[in-house]
Amino acid sequence: PEPSALSGKTVVVTAGPTREKIDGVRYLSNYSSGKMGFAIAAEAARRGATVHLVSGPVTLPTPPGVQRHDAESAVEMLEAARPLFADCDLFIGAAAVADYRPETPVEGKIKKHDAEMELRLVRNPDILAEFSTNRKPGQLAVGFALETAGGIDYARRKLTDKKLDLVAFNIYDGTTSGFEVDTNVLTLLDRDGAITELPLLSKEEAAERLLDAIELLLPR
Ligand code: C5P
Repeated sequence: PEPSALSGKTVVVTAGPTREKIDGVRYLSNYSSGKMGFAIAAEAARRGATVHLVSGPVTLPTPPGVQRHDAESAVEMLEAARPLFADCDLFIGAAAVADYRPETPVEGKIKKHDAEMELRLVRNPDILAEFSTNRKPGQLAVGFALETAGGIDYARRKLTDKKLDLVAFNIYDGTTSGFEVDTNVLTLLDRDGAITELPLLSKEEAAERLLDAIELLLPR
C-alpha cells in the first residue's frame, strides 16, 4: 500500500474536557470523555506520525506510540500545547475547552450561607485559534464544532473565523453522537468548500475517515 501522507509528520491533538477551578474542591467542566481525540491520536501514530496528545482530565489509557501531555484547565492546556506549535505539521483541536473560567478561584472551600451567590466568569484563551492565527505556511489547523442544533452554518463560520483547513461538525444528541458515547456522526467541511457527510461510525472509524480527509490537504 501507498505510505500515509502522515508518515514522518508531527501532529498535535488536544482532547478531553478542561476543569476550571471554583475553589479547592469544586470546578466547572463538561461531559467530554476524550474518546474522539484519543482515537485520532492513536490512528495518526499508526500512520507513522510523531504524535503529541495534549489531554484534559480523562480516564483513557495513552495510545501506543503517543506522547502525552496532561493539563487540567484551559490555561494549562494552552501552556502545554504552545511549545508544540512551532514544530508541528498538523494541529487538531478535539478538546472540549471550557469557554469561561471563574475569575478568582478561591483557596480552600467556599462555605455556604443563606444568601445567593454569584460566580463571575471570564473568557478562556482559544487554543486552536491561537495556533491557527500564528502558524507558518504549510501547517494545517483542524477543529471540531459540536452543536446541539442549528449546526452546519455555525461550523462553516468556525472554519472561516478560526481560519481552519477543515472542521468536523458533530451534532450532540446525547445518544449516538457527541460526548461520552463510542460512536459519532461527523460532517467534514474543508477550506475548499467540500462537504463530506460521514455515516454513524465508531470513533475509531471516524478518526480514520477524518485523517483520510486531512491527508488530502497535507503538502506531500
Ligand atoms: O468556538 P468553539 O469552542 O465551538 O470551537 C471548537 C473548536 O475550537 C474545537 O476544535 C476546540 O478544540 C477548539 N477550542 C480551543 N480552545 C478554546 C475553545 C475551543 O482550542 N478555548
